[in-house]
Formats: sequence, C-alpha cells, structure tokens
Amino acid sequence: MSIKLEHILKRVQALPPLPTSAMRVIALTKNPATSVKDLETVIGQDPALTAGMLRQANSAYYGYARRISSLQDAIIMLGFQVIQGLAMVSAVAPLLKTKLAGYEIEQEGLWKHSMLTAMAAKRLCQHCKLPYGDVAFTAGLLHDIGKLIISIYVQEVGSYLLEKVSEAKFSYVELEEKVIGYNHATVGGFLAKTWNLPEDLVEAISHHHAPSNARYYVELASVVHVANGLVSTLGIGGGVDSFLNPLQQEALDRLALKESDLELLIADLGEFLVDPTLFG
Ligand SMILES: [Fe+2]
Ligand SMILES: [Fe+2]
Repeated sequence: MSIKLEHILKRVQALPPLPTSAMRVIALTKNPATSVKDLETVIGQDPALTAGMLRQANSAYYGYARRISSLQDAIIMLGFQVIQGLAMVSAVAPLLKTKLAGYEIEQEGLWKHSMLTAMAAKRLCQHCKLPYGDVAFTAGLLHDIGKLIISIYVQEVGSYLLEKVSEAKFSYVELEEKVIGYNHATVGGFLAKTWNLPEDLVEAISHHHAPSNARYYVELASVVHVANGLVSTLGIGGGVDSFLNPLQQEALDRLALKESDLELLIADLGEFLVDPTLFG
C-alpha cells in the first residue's frame, strides 16, 4: 500500500499550528532589535510558557547553582538562543507527548527521545567545536515529528515492516519508503515547511537518517543523525525502529568522530537522564 502524497499532506495540514505565543517568542529572539523587556512581556502573557521555561531553566542540564525564579533572570542568564529553544520545546511538547501506536512507543517515549536527542545534538556541537549548538538542539527536538503523521499507516503495516527488516536487511526507514511511499524523515520535512521553519531545520529533519543526501546543511543533518543514534544506543528510542536504523560511517567521518568520542558522549548523556525535571 503506497500512500498518495496528497493524503500525507492533508494529515500534515490537519495537525494544529504551533501556539502563537511560542511562535512570537521564536520570531522575537531572531530579531536583533528585541530587548529583554520585549521578550519578558510576550512570554509573561502565557502562564504555561512561563512555567515551562522556568522549570527547564532550573533543570540540572543548564547547571546554574542559584535558582532562577524570574523570567527576566532566565532571559539574561540563558540568552536569546536558549530561550528560542525553550519556546520550541513548550510549543511541541503536547504533540510529542501523544502516544504513537504504530511505532510501539511507550507513553511519552517520543518526547523523551526527542528531548534527549536535542541535548545530545547540542553536546555534540560543543565536542566538535561547531558554532550552532542551539540550532542543533531545535533540530534534534523536532527530528522525528514526521512520526506524528505516518504512525497511523505504520500501525497498519508495522508487523509486516518488521518481518521484512529481519528478512531483507533493509533499514526501517528504507522499508517505510518501500511500503508507505515516504519515510518519517521526509514527512517531518513537509511538516517543518508547513510550520514555516527555517531551511536548516527542514534539511536536518528531512535527512536525519541519511545526512549525505542533504543538499544543504549536511553537517547539521549529520549532527542530528549521530545524536539520534547515540540516544537510541542508550535505549531511549523513538520506538520500534530505533535499532533498525544504523549509524552511518560517513556521518561519523564528516564530524571526525571516533569510537572513543562516542563513548565519552554516551557517558555525558547518561548524566542528563538522571534529571527528571528535564522531561517534565
Ligand atoms: Fe528518525
Ligand atoms: Fe529518532
């Protein structure tokens, strides 16, 4: 059963738009003329966004010894780029927390997988001395959003896919393409475009399982690819497909990552995992 593109696009359009307050924060953080006060005003009008940001800002991940109790402190201490990432986290959390039957993901499994991939991507940028850790964070957060759209089809053909994976030595993503017509990465790219997200995010999401196919931002796509692989190694998978989408040597080479680097990064990620506030 190959699904027609128009069906997939209809489902993409049927998803709710991202909340306006979060989108306004994202737009403001991109504008160099924005002041701390401007941001504080917009965030402050949305109690859920405010609470979510303060909770995240106080998680061990950001490592501040002193409690951040006001929005103004959070904005000044974390900076505009981090605030942009936190706004995206609160915008997509309700979507990523939905249960996806097709991938056999446990409740909130995709949410944890996405948050940890975001952190892994940012950590990987630090390790590789790449200057766009905050963009990588957002790309990591959103990389599997296509699963929201095609999970329903995967549910119908999931057991057939798994059987074929073990038989044919295809990766899960290749089988999604063969059986459904599109893989979740490509569909995630459609969704990112519908949300008017920037080109770097669209490319990284679309090619997170085959970064060498990206026309632009190959390096960013490779960062997300490796981050996703590391998180899956830790057993925080995006569902049934996790172990069936191997890490590509090309991506590791592009980032000059050796086995010893990967071990180091996995150990770091294990530490993030013990902080329950991160996934609240
Ligand atoms: Fe994926
Ligand atoms: Fe993933």
